[in-house]
Amino acid sequence: MNQNAAVVKTMPDAQTVTSVQHWTDRLFSFRVTRPQSLRFRSGEFVMIGLLDERGKPIMRAYSIASPNWDEELEFYSIKVPDGPLTSRLQHIQPGDQIILRPKPVGTLVLDALLPGKRIWFLATGTGLAPFASLMRDPDTYERYEQVIMMHTCREASELEYGRQLVESLKDDPLIGEMVGDKLLYYPTTTREASDRMGRITDNLTSGKVFTDLGIPQMNMEEDRAMVCGSLQFNIDVKNVLESFGLREGANSEPLEYVVEKAFVGDGI
Ligand code: FAD
Ligand code: A2P
Repeated sequence: MNQNAAVVKTMPDAQTVTSVQHWTDRLFSFRVTRPQSLRFRSGEFVMIGLLDERGKPIMRAYSIASPNWDEELEFYSIKVPDGPLTSRLQHIQPGDQIILRPKPVGTLVLDALLPGKRIWFLATGTGLAPFASLMRDPDTYERYEQVIMMHTCREASELEYGRQLVESLKDDPLIGEMVGDKLLYYPTTTREASDRMGRITDNLTSGKVFTDLGIPQMNMEEDRAMVCGSLQFNIDVKNVLESFGLREGANSEPLEYVVEKAFVGDGI
């Protein structure tokens, strides 16, 4: 246990790290104890953090990657070398403490969409996190006949957390049967050669993903979508979805798609 963690333990809202897995030099996932009182809807985010050397909390938004039935909470994180939080967070170990404010919020919730036939989860990088939760929620499979997970990264190694998660769902004793063959996984790389390549925007616009999966072109009657990536990715995907006739909804006004930023950056 590191020194920083020992200090945090005296703070309210401290939770204990139970496991950590490093996927690449820029990506890791970890699990923490769940506050007994915490209820959340799959797809929501909370504020988590650590104390700096002066004892001041450094808090950041994090999507909960685990489903709402899980006893623990899982997070999927970037490592920004000089990032105020993740330059430290990347060194956490089981037994360490983090701060977790138990106030979940967010737009990527099933209630913000009208009923439909198919739901599309469109993510780049750590934007997969809210969908790691939603892909494990029985409600997703009760509401939709098909669930399509498009995840795009530069290199294949960055897809590995999502790939293993999807793979594990088939044999999951709790939801394996519900998932069945309803979940269609469509991972692509853009900079490293792999079986499937290309940006999500390009694969939607060209119609390649519809052909590959043997499903009709996206349309407002049957298709619903959730988007999570960089600001520019979100803007570009929104334009593609609107070109298929889908409209942006919200908790207060459910429509055909919803969007959330995976991070705030690049001066925005
Ligand atoms: P910061 O000062 O916060 O960021 C420094 C720079 O790093 C940013 O300007 C940006 O260019 C880049 N950056 C930050 N986060 C990312 C990222 N995730 N992917 C690529 N580049 C990034 N981050 C996660 O890792 N997992 C999550 O589940 C997650 N959920 C979020 C949900 C919401 C609603 C928002 C707004 C952000 C979320 N983030 C998530 C980003 C997170 O809040 C922090 O920005 C991130 O942990 C880095 O913190 P930092 O203090 O080290 O660096
Ligand atoms: P590309 O390699 O063509 O830029 P990043 O690592 O820069 O955050 O990008 C993560 C993934 O998202 C990469 O595969 C990248 O493709 C893709 N991407 C970045 N910006 C956009 C965008 N505006 N529209 C579609 N895909 C994007």
